[in-house]
Amino acid sequence: MDAKDWDDRYAAHDLVWSAEPNRFVAEIIGPLTPGHAVDLAAGEGRNAIWMVEQGWVVTASDYSPVAVERMRSLAADRLGDGLGRLTAVVADATQSTPGGPAAYDLAVLCYLQLPAEQWRQALRSAVEAVRPGGLVVVIGHAGRNLAEGWGGPSDRAVLYDPEEVLDGAEGLPVAPLQSGIRERPVPTDDGERVALDTVVVLHREG
Ligand SMILES: C[S@@+](CC[C@H](N)C(=O)[O-])C[C@H]1O[C@@H](n2cnc3c(N)ncnc32)[C@H](O)[C@@H]1O
Repeated sequence: MDAKDWDDRYAAHDLVWSAEPNRFVAEIIGPLTPGHAVDLAAGEGRNAIWMVEQGWVVTASDYSPVAVERMRSLAADRLGDGLGRLTAVVADATQSTPGGPAAYDLAVLCYLQLPAEQWRQALRSAVEAVRPGGLVVVIGHAGRNLAEGWGGPSDRAVLYDPEEVLDGAEGLPVAPLQSGIRERPVPTDDGERVALDTVVVLHREG
């Protein structure tokens, strides 16, 4: 899918993703002391808006202008005085991150589904965007989800098991703090199903 495909998908629905944050975003970021964060490929902003509500100053980018416009609109409805702490921009996650190098305490990549070379470039940009001592949180549909889990993309080339994320981080100034496959219950018309997500937290080194 390219940016136009994502625009069409967002334009076809009022809300493609949930209004609530991803459960692993909430679990990992909830206990952290708020600072400056960047959410790359932020979609409609469910995670970015929630982070602002937790006290973070957030730059959220996506290459779909329709998604970014919706994020701005949802943020205006939800954030009140906090609205000034969210900057929503149209940007390609495989290019350098808005704000420049080492500008953030935290970078989030949540369900960014790209082929390996582009995905690795996005990870490199996320790492560059974080100051030494900061964190990069990577969440995505696991490769194993294809055979063993529910939903998600059917193209294996855009799915990543934890070891593939760690391979992608090789040579970058990061050390893994957490890396594994996590189960995510999904309600469906036929009852609850379980999706398998890759969850990796990287610590940015100097
Ligand atoms: C599955 S959605 C996830 C959205 C959001 N992170 C979330 O968890 O709700 C994937 C998003 O990645 C965006 N995307 C895909 N490739 C991108 C790229 N190269 N640069 C920026 N955004 C991209 C799409 O527009 C889409 O909004």
